[in-house]
Amino acid sequence: MALFNPTFSFKPCNLFSNGPQRCRYVQSVRNFTLRATVSVEAPSSSTTDTGGAPKLLLEVKDLSAVITESKQSILKGVNLTMFEGEVHVVMGKNGSGKSTFAKVLVGHPDYEITGGSIIYKGQDLLEMAPEERALAGLFMSFQSPVEIPGVSNIDFLNMAYNARRRKLGLPELGPIEFYGYVAPKLELVNMKIDFLNRNVNEGFSGGEKKRNEILQLAVLGADLSILDEIDSGLDVDALRDVAKAVNGLQTPKNSVLMITHYLRLLEFIKPTYIHIMENGRIVKTGDISIAEILEREGYKSISGT
Ligand SMILES: Nc1ncnc2c1ncn2[C@@H]1O[C@H](COP(=O)(O)OP(=O)(O)O)[C@@H](O)[C@H]1O
Ligand SMILES: [Mg+2]
Repeated sequence: MALFNPTFSFKPCNLFSNGPQRCRYVQSVRNFTLRATVSVEAPSSSTTDTGGAPKLLLEVKDLSAVITESKQSILKGVNLTMFEGEVHVVMGKNGSGKSTFAKVLVGHPDYEITGGSIIYKGQDLLEMAPEERALAGLFMSFQSPVEIPGVSNIDFLNMAYNARRRKLGLPELGPIEFYGYVAPKLELVNMKIDFLNRNVNEGFSGGEKKRNEILQLAVLGADLSILDEIDSGLDVDALRDVAKAVNGLQTPKNSVLMITHYLRLLEFIKPTYIHIMENGRIVKTGDISIAEILEREGYKSISGT
């Protein structure tokens, strides 16, 4: 199907930008196709036995980035190291650069890297196209997921999943087989079966959109899931469901980089480390106690300046 050819686009559609509805549709499909190449069944390149020592997954060094269009500097020397199986949380005030950092990791074209390095599973991530990053197991859940009118959730997931299988040289799943694969995953996000027949994100509540992002993650899988504010706009029940689903997907090898404003998410998902971002840099790293200080005394108390 032409829409699933990665080279296909209606100009001026941009892979990530929001545009008119038609553009959004194409861009979402392409974006999802990109995610669809996430490798789950393919053995991870980091499975080499190193005698049980934790394996380095992501090493970000002195990363700086500007907005492509305006050249405004946003990231100003980010350093972050993650090992397999870890859950890292990035917190920080609005506008500190958290979403930019997440988007730079998946290769968002709005940003241009001006310095530093990112090594992911021993590879230079900055040399990899967004599609290659997805194939290498990167998944990002967006802060504002796009709607795709006229395309049902199950068709979308099926196409995305098949795109990934094609990439892996595996046979595609037909609608009935795919239904069998996806239906049990709905339970994970506590959604009813009719959720599959609704158009992608169309008319979904904030909570349903977030659940749908996690459903996509469950279908496609990832070695490193980057979750940008999956907790925003959720009531406590939805928050618990989403957190439970994220925990349910966690294995000793899968890692999560979570961006959040709210400490309440950390009651459900236990972080290995918490980082505080301020003015485009990580100014502090620590354990849950940082979050507790934050709650008591605010960002000022742990400011790097
Ligand atoms: N594509 C963009 N165009 C214009 N400004 C941007 C863009 N991306 C980020 N910014 C600006 O960069 C700063 C950091 O944004 P962001 O990374 O979204 O922060 P956070 O997620 O921490 O709230 C903000 O001032 C934001 O307005
Ligand atoms: Mg943000």
